[in-house]
Amino acid sequence: MLTISRLTKQFGDKIAVDAANIQIDAPAMIGIIGRSGAGKSTLLRMINRLSDASDGEILFQGEDVTAMRGAARRHWQSRCAMIFQQFNLVPRMDVVSNVLHGTLNRRSTLATMFNLYPQSDIHKAIDILDRLGIAEQAPKRAEALSGGQQQRVAIARALMQDPAIILADEPIASLDPMNAQVVMQSLRDIHEEDGRMVIANLHTLDTARRYCDRVIGMRDGRIVFDGTPAQLTTGVARDIYGAGADFSEAATSTEIETLDRTDAPKIEVVA
Ligand SMILES: Nc1ncnc2c1ncn2[C@@H]1O[C@H](COP(=O)(O)OP(=O)(O)OP(=O)(O)O)[C@@H](O)[C@H]1O
Ligand SMILES: [Mg+2]
Repeated sequence: MLTISRLTKQFGDKIAVDAANIQIDAPAMIGIIGRSGAGKSTLLRMINRLSDASDGEILFQGEDVTAMRGAARRHWQSRCAMIFQQFNLVPRMDVVSNVLHGTLNRRSTLATMFNLYPQSDIHKAIDILDRLGIAEQAPKRAEALSGGQQQRVAIARALMQDPAIILADEPIASLDPMNAQVVMQSLRDIHEEDGRMVIANLHTLDTARRYCDRVIGMRDGRIVFDGTPAQLTTGVARDIYGAGADFSEAATSTEIETLDRTDAPKIEVVA
């Protein structure tokens, strides 16, 4: 249903994504891993059309996403919701209004100006917040919530668009391990219960292994691994993260790993 062919992004001399090919036949939960600068965010941004590809093609259910312009592009962006590391909420606005912002693409300018929402949308927003376990936070300002709660508000805002695909760019990178688990489990539930495709850039191997059906490894803009979590062995991880990485402990561990993504990536195993 989603076919990415030879997708390339060049910034000057720098090839950020180099002829990436990804075929996704059915809704899946997919993790993208790779060290800093590997091209993960650039890939997601091209899929969402926040960024134009330099070359290559994206097809979704036979439609050419890369060629979409104007209204077609905006419609695509509402079918393909994006979640960010920093949540991107309006901090001083209440939670339910933040969620209702997910309907912006289909509202008139006048309705937006006067902050008018149909009753049905308000009910839908509350139902989604309830599903994510944060309905009681609805009247609070977004800035008054914990990071994990804020990320769930961002997920709720994405769900208001009823997207076929949710793209998450390091959704748990700013969260403590407990909140990270809650957010990843929410994404997993949304995938399983609603049949939505989830593609998440993740910075720990363990998270990718634990929550995803399929893992894609990127290195220097290229896809160097595409397989199941079980196939993601220590050797493969070293290939993805570079020769300097130490994955000896990570191979046997099912505990939370923290990947230090500076020059020589290491795995720290928290017992
Ligand atoms: N707007 C831009 N202009 C120029 N170069 C860019 C731009 N965006 C990204 N790049 C470069 O493209 C490469 C890939 O960047 P990208 O942000 O996709 O990596 P990433 O895998 O998401 O890294 P991180 O894990 O740090 O988020 C990097 O070398 C980066 O410097
Ligand atoms: Mg990134």
